Amino acid sequence: MVSAAAASDISGVVITALDQQRDLAGVLEIAAASFPRPWTRDMFVEALERAPGTRAFVARSANGLVVAYCVGQMVLDELHVHVVAVGSQWRQRGLGASLLAFFLHAAGQENAVTATLEVRQSNVAARRLYEGAGFVRSGVRPGYYADPVEDALVYWRRRLAGGASERSDDTLGEAPSS
Ligand SMILES: CC(C)(COP(=O)(O)OP(=O)(O)OC[C@H]1O[C@@H](n2cnc3c(N)ncnc32)[C@H](O)[C@@H]1OP(=O)(O)O)[C@@H](O)C(=O)NCCC(=O)NCCS
Repeated sequence: MVSAAAASDISGVVITALDQQRDLAGVLEIAAASFPRPWTRDMFVEALERAPGTRAFVARSANGLVVAYCVGQMVLDELHVHVVAVGSQWRQRGLGASLLAFFLHAAGQENAVTATLEVRQSNVAARRLYEGAGFVRSGVRPGYYADPVEDALVYWRRRLAGGASERSDDTLGEAPSS
């Protein structure tokens, strides 16, 4: 949960759907600073305009700068979280947790029942973020990532609020490889 102190550090931040014209430049800056192989503009455009079920949100500061973003995809009643990233100056204030909570809630409102994601084993910050949001580790994909080669941990979060139904645990598998 976001503590009162952390929440006050991000007061004035608003979360909205990602608007390509307004937000993409800021999103690309954060992506470039966050990942060794960041999504390119073309990859974002492909996802936003052509991949069915893509959902994307940004957090913007009081002066309108993009300070965090998330992208995922609705696949039937599952939200596949592709990425959550926070600008380096804005980390460890509860913003990632707030954005992820918003994302999961929004998916639940669309009747998503579960959410899943993969994360690098060494990404302690992301693992804590996801575990704090109720994601449970359910598998490993050996050597899933390149540059550097590393295992992916597979996480699932069950029972998103607002979902039309609840699955029993034994129907949860790993996300299909992409
Ligand atoms: C992962 C990331 C999104 C977290 O965002 P954030 O705004 O700093 O996260 P929060 O402040 O909401 O903290 C969420 C949890 O992660 C923990 N955390 C955040 N940064 C951490 C760090 N560097 N080391 C250890 N734990 C960390 C927090 O303590 C908190 O856990 P808690 O609730 O148990 O205290 C951010 O570090 C980031 O953008 N990283 C680069 C992109 C990335 O790797 N994204 C994830 C894979 S797609």
